[in-house]
Amino acid sequence: MSDILSSGSVALVTGASSGIGAATARHLVARGLRVIGTGRSLERLKELADELGETGLMIELDVRDEDAVAAALADLPAEWREIDILVNNAGHDAGGWQEFQDLDRTASDDVINTNVTGLIRMTSHVIPRMLNRNRGHIVNIGSISSFTPYPKSAVYCASKFAVDGFTQSLRMDMANTAIRVTQIDPGVVLTGFQLSRYKGDQAAADAFIDSYPTGLTPDDVARAICFSLEQPPGVMIDRIVLQPTQGA
Ligand SMILES: NC(=O)c1ccc[n+]([C@@H]2O[C@H](COP(=O)([O-])OP(=O)(O)OC[C@H]3O[C@@H](n4cnc5c(N)ncnc54)[C@H](OP(=O)(O)O)[C@@H]3O)[C@@H](O)[C@H]2O)c1
Repeated sequence: MSDILSSGSVALVTGASSGIGAATARHLVARGLRVIGTGRSLERLKELADELGETGLMIELDVRDEDAVAAALADLPAEWREIDILVNNAGHDAGGWQEFQDLDRTASDDVINTNVTGLIRMTSHVIPRMLNRNRGHIVNIGSISSFTPYPKSAVYCASKFAVDGFTQSLRMDMANTAIRVTQIDPGVVLTGFQLSRYKGDQAAADAFIDSYPTGLTPDDVARAICFSLEQPPGVMIDRIVLQPTQGA
């Protein structure tokens, strides 16, 4: 059986319309893979589609929508149906970075629905065909918030701790199969994440970023994802934690 990070494999990347997801799609296509990119913003997905050409298939998809996810996967063209790699990347902290008592409940529910329920939903729809072929690699994007709680992020941290618990238990359930499960836990990455966290307030997002001396780039995270994928089938990377080098 060929290595999973080889020409012809199909990867599905959620949240491919920006940041880490878009960079990951580009890196995978550069390695010869075909990439299904999903997100809610069709406009931004179209830009990526133009760039990736026939090696990319962009689908407008909200991971919170069970019926839409089921339909999108069922309707994939036959040659795209066998997904070898699932990168569960879609996530946000919109309306976050506030003490718990000040968080808007609807925004908090949305963080859980996207970061946790959406990630589990995507996995549950993709994994049956992986099990049928005994071939697959699931990469969940956690965060340092998956294991280090900090203030003003109670619900976001809860969501990423949940991703961690899911990843670890899923890996155990896959123990007698060839399916690998990896979690990538970045520190601060320079993406649209902060702008979305502050609901489009650019000054607040810039101030947050400026409070950190350095940040990772989406390419840094995409390289870590590719490192986990490029290991021989007998090697499982459980987790990669990436932090920006202070002072670099
Ligand atoms: N940036 C950081 O500092 C950092 C650090 C650690 C972990 N992370 C994690 O990295 C992942 C990617 O974030 P990013 O930094 O690349 O931020 P980003 O640039 O804001 O990208 C987030 C992506 O998630 C997608 N998304 C959000 N809600 C969605 C939904 N309901 N359905 C489908 N797609 C949805 C967005 O697409 P649409 O808006 O088009 O739907 C977008 O493509 C997230 O899981 C985040 O928690 C980020």
